[in-house]
Amino acid sequence: VPSPAPSPSTAPTGGETPLLAAVAGREPSRVPVWFMRQAGRSLPEYKKVREGISMLDSCARPDLVTEITMQPVRRYDVDAAIFYSDIMVPLRAIGVDLDIVPGTGPVIARPVRSAEDLEQLRDPEPGELDHITAAVELLVAELGPTPLIGFCGAPFTLASYLVEGGPSKDYARTKAMMVGAPDLWHELMARLARISAAFLRTQVQAGARAVQVFDSWAGSLPVRDYRSSVMPHSASVLTAVGERGVPRIHFGVGTSELLPSMVEAGADVIGVDWRLDLDDAWRRVGGGVAVQGNLDPALLTAPWPVLAERVRDVLRAGGRVPTGHVFNLGHGVPPTTDPDVLARVVDLVHEEGLALREP
Ligand code: CP3
Repeated sequence: VPSPAPSPSTAPTGGETPLLAAVAGREPSRVPVWFMRQAGRSLPEYKKVREGISMLDSCARPDLVTEITMQPVRRYDVDAAIFYSDIMVPLRAIGVDLDIVPGTGPVIARPVRSAEDLEQLRDPEPGELDHITAAVELLVAELGPTPLIGFCGAPFTLASYLVEGGPSKDYARTKAMMVGAPDLWHELMARLARISAAFLRTQVQAGARAVQVFDSWAGSLPVRDYRSSVMPHSASVLTAVGERGVPRIHFGVGTSELLPSMVEAGADVIGVDWRLDLDDAWRRVGGGVAVQGNLDPALLTAPWPVLAERVRDVLRAGGRVPTGHVFNLGHGVPPTTDPDVLARVVDLVHEEGLALREP
């Protein structure tokens, strides 16, 4: 009887997947790679299953969540799956009136501007996250050895949508509340921290093997405000899953100056955008964590020889980090990305990654 061919993403030695080895500081069998926003609008198969169903409705259906999460795993030989959901999903689950508008992002019906507006935000009740549990369980069974990364939004990034009412360039109202109404601000942040922690814990309990906390817009803050008004609340989210032993990736955009504080808030892996070389980033944080990143997503449209050399530069810099490197982009996959280019990047990382490390 012929035995089934091993799936390509089961490559590890000793049963340890490349992602989990790398983030634990152990030598992986290959440099692990996955992409933020690997599921979604860059894939024709995604557009097909999403026809006639809204983003948030698709997130509530475990069968669709499983299919969409699996799509990039089938197409690319990535070393992790990222749960198809959204940072706003737990808010919707507790009844906050919001939508995700295609091409725009999250839009909130009743923005949070006063203490009364906070009434929309309460802890999820038993049962309200059952669709998350069901989706993760279905997915983990389908994924086999490929680890699932669970995620949530950090309180500041969620607060920015709730206070502004939608996406923003300058976060003016958010910052005004932060410095002008600190009691209201801290109550808002504490509530969001509990909601995101519940979302994250639900995914870990159902089988997610690593987590990423997205503080996408924290890079808009001065270090001092980050430390006094944001860091304690991010820390409470990261601590909530810390004792469960799953590696925690802490990521934001434009956070070069915040990296040491983000590690202090809690991180086993620090996510870095394209602005800093990975070895510089790692030196800034003082060494105790692995790094993830950081190819500039804009380069995915460059001619292949140019792009390939930049991928190698990221691998070399990541190789100078003795505590481990996970290859990723510096932010999400742009919607216009050619999937074949991503496939070539994955293969290059796997073929040349270990050899490009300094001996
Ligand atoms: O592969 C994956 O990473 C899929 C899972 C995922 C989504 N959103 C799906 C999604 C993850 C991890 C997120 C996180 C998320 N959502 C963040 C943090 C990550 C980041 O990019 O910094 C943020 C800030 C959001 C809020 C949000 N949701 C935005 C800004 C948008 C884009 C709006 C647009 O259309 O330009 C969304 C919508 C969204 N989330 C889509 C997907 C696949 C597109 C929805 C669609 O197909 O219409």
